Amino acid sequence: MLEEICLSREVILIDHTTGELEAKHFAIVETTASAPGPGEVLVRNRWFRVSISTRLMAEQGAEEVKGIPFPPLNPGDTLADGAIGEVVQAGRGCDLRVGSLVMHSLGWREYAVVPATQCKVINTPTVDPAAWLGHGWTAYAALTQCVQVRPGDTVFVTSGAGAIGSMAGQIARLLGATRVIGSTSGQEKAQWMQTELGYDAVVTRDGGSIREQLAAAAPDGIDVIVDMVGGEQLAAAIEQTREGARCVLLGALTAELNPRNATLKALVEVDTFQLILKGVTVRGFSADEHAPTLFDAWLRQVDTWQHEGLIWLPHTTIKGLDNAPYALQEACAGRLKGLVMVELEAL
Ligand SMILES: NC(=O)c1ccc[n+]([C@@H]2O[C@H](COP(=O)([O-])OP(=O)(O)OC[C@H]3O[C@@H](n4cnc5c(N)ncnc54)[C@H](OP(=O)(O)O)[C@@H]3O)[C@@H](O)[C@H]2O)c1
Repeated sequence: MLEEICLSREVILIDHTTGELEAKHFAIVETTASAPGPGEVLVRNRWFRVSISTRLMAEQGAEEVKGIPFPPLNPGDTLADGAIGEVVQAGRGCDLRVGSLVMHSLGWREYAVVPATQCKVINTPTVDPAAWLGHGWTAYAALTQCVQVRPGDTVFVTSGAGAIGSMAGQIARLLGATRVIGSTSGQEKAQWMQTELGYDAVVTRDGGSIREQLAAAAPDGIDVIVDMVGGEQLAAAIEQTREGARCVLLGALTAELNPRNATLKALVEVDTFQLILKGVTVRGFSADEHAPTLFDAWLRQVDTWQHEGLIWLPHTTIKGLDNAPYALQEACAGRLKGLVMVELEAL
């Protein structure tokens, strides 16, 4: 039985990336999935998430960055990310049953040996992988635990078409925001954000001064900033805040996806007088600190919103492990929208 399924393929980093991340930085290698030890399960993956943070993990010197929220990758290392798969073998003393569908963190491979304690069982009759693997829950955590959106708020979401942003705009509206503004690279995505995601206005990186665009889009000011970008966009948003505004910092894409050199140093020039005079709160936030009880709350909430037709989980699904490096390349280049997932063949 195991003999028939033990060959597995996985994606490894060939060499550290500098400059633009490309599919050629990765290779697909054949390996042997070992039998699960006591307390472990062998999982055949069905879907895994593709996250742009892999760009930083693969960067030369990533291991020297203190506080990096994910393990740096060295040449030869197998990539990892959130995944959903089916248990095909359970080790001794393990109460997970063969056939169970589980979520875990060892994507980018066909088979994974995972400690049962690190698996979250999916016990619903059907599974929407975008709800489980998507960053809607990150947006939900940020907007309910870090900044509370109040009825009447004007909310600005940077990278509003991205994995987190495409959900944050919708969730902000569901939590009571009356005006939701997003940012993106150009007109095509801006149009999509307004027609499909319900943004009232979108500012674009190719549309001239962000400061001027934002002043026109939010003439009465901004109450909540959900920032994934940093740089000029964050500075302009802070200038445009209303009294008592709240700002949650989730990412710094200007630094992270800098085409010349990805970095975790995300410097921004901010007028601190604005923060003081208007009593603006700025908080960095990591959704992972709130798992797992909040994650369960998110799953219940998104299920309700989906049944009521109030939310959409935008995603791009790319089929086959062979295309996974390409999916990452395209995500980092900004050519995809929403969550990016790879789907592997069913058993
Ligand atoms: N705090 C947390 O709990 C947490 C959890 C997960 C991820 N994160 C972080 O949150 C941020 C967003 O993550 P995500 O997965 O949702 O990513 P994402 O927004 O889907 O990132 C990809 C998008 O970034 C935009 N982009 C590309 N180059 C850019 C540049 N130079 N400046 C500004 N935007 C650029 C592009 O969108 P446009 O074409 O629309 O500009 C691209 O499609 C990342 O920094 C990530 O590390 C935080």
